[in-house]
Amino acid sequence: EVHSHLEKSIRPYIDLIDTLRTIGIQKDLELPTIAVIGDQSSGKSSVLEALSGVALPRGSGIVTRCPLELRLKKVPGIKWKAVLTYNNKTGKFVNFAGPIKASQLASVKAAQSTHNEKRIEFSDPSLVEKHVAAAQNELAGRGVGISDELITLEIMSPDVCDLTLIDLPGIARVPVEGQPEDIGKQIKRLIMTYIKRLETINLVVVPCNSDIATTEALKMAQEVDPDGIRTVAILTKPDLIDKGTEKNILAIVYNKVIPLRKGYIMVKCRGQQQIDDKISLEEAAQMERDFFQNHDYFRCLLEEDKVTIKSLAIKLTNDLVDHIKKSLPQLHKQVKNQLWSVKSALKNYEDGPPEDHDKAKDFLIKVGPQDIKSS
Ligand code: GDP
Ligand code: NA
Ligand code: MG
Repeated sequence: EVHSHLEKSIRPYIDLIDTLRTIGIQKDLELPTIAVIGDQSSGKSSVLEALSGVALPRGSGIVTRCPLELRLKKVPGIKWKAVLTYNNKTGKFVNFAGPIKASQLASVKAAQSTHNEKRIEFSDPSLVEKHVAAAQNELAGRGVGISDELITLEIMSPDVCDLTLIDLPGIARVPVEGQPEDIGKQIKRLIMTYIKRLETINLVVVPCNSDIATTEALKMAQEVDPDGIRTVAILTKPDLIDKGTEKNILAIVYNKVIPLRKGYIMVKCRGQQQIDDKISLEEAAQMERDFFQNHDYFRCLLEEDKVTIKSLAIKLTNDLVDHIKKSLPQLHKQVKNQLWSVKSALKNYEDGPPEDHDKAKDFLIKVGPQDIKSS
């Protein structure tokens, strides 16, 4: 349902952009990327998973240990297919980067410079988690380390929408065994490199059962986007809320506590039990709806589109379409200019080659393909 909505409203714009790609539009129009940030286990991967329809590694503790870029491409009439790529720079694990002895420096540098692009193609969606986990182990080591090396997963299918989503490691407050003292700082620095980009829409994920006012991710988003024009806050785990705090949460959703220009959306994703019970994403979407419909306090949010993954998807679609619409006048101007210069170049050749043999030769040299291409 989520994906068919995205498809209907976004399709004409994406088709337009695809057409414009043939004249090199990607140089001028960067389609927004959606990045999710938040504390560890706040539900970032769960939100991305529900939005994209792609099962991702998730669970308790630090599961996402490298930035994972999910490039979803809608390709009609093909079977589901994925390509995972990453650069394995051997020996560069952020958490193991202790002091390097001078005698080791040369070999460390040599190891870092051998870019070794790995590329894995597969056609079984249930293998996503396994391949991503294996890539993370290779880049960040087994265990609890992180790496800022990007893993890219391109998914082509008739059933996905054209979006790029980035899953990032969660902010850790206290290092666990095996993590360096400054792990929190390292993760924040990594997150910053993504959320400061102007074409990124930042989804800040905050669990309902946490202290929302002190959320580090929210502060970071406000720092890079003070006017809040590209920040959306997502409240997760409404089913785990402490009894008695419902009214406080409602006040937050109604933008009365920490006002955000784009406001809040509350979603309920699959909990660990539902994952263990192999509840599908479709079933989870229905259960999410039932949950809000039957909730004494949150029922009212359904009609206002302030809850569910579906509302979030619609909101993001609108943002994406807005961005494309805003870019159209500029694109229109560029297309007109190109057309004009091609037309004026053509005018020079309207009369065809001259009778005179030498002049005809010059003419034909001038008409050469490089002239037509450059105009
Ligand atoms: P991340 O570390 O921020 O990527 O968080 P995950 O998406 O891995 O989620 C952490 C845990 O919270 C997982 O066990 C999820 O199943 C669970 N979880 C996520 N969203 C919800 C929710 O809305 N309700 C419940 N009960 N559990 C959730
Ligand atoms: Na997690
Ligand atoms: Mg995660």
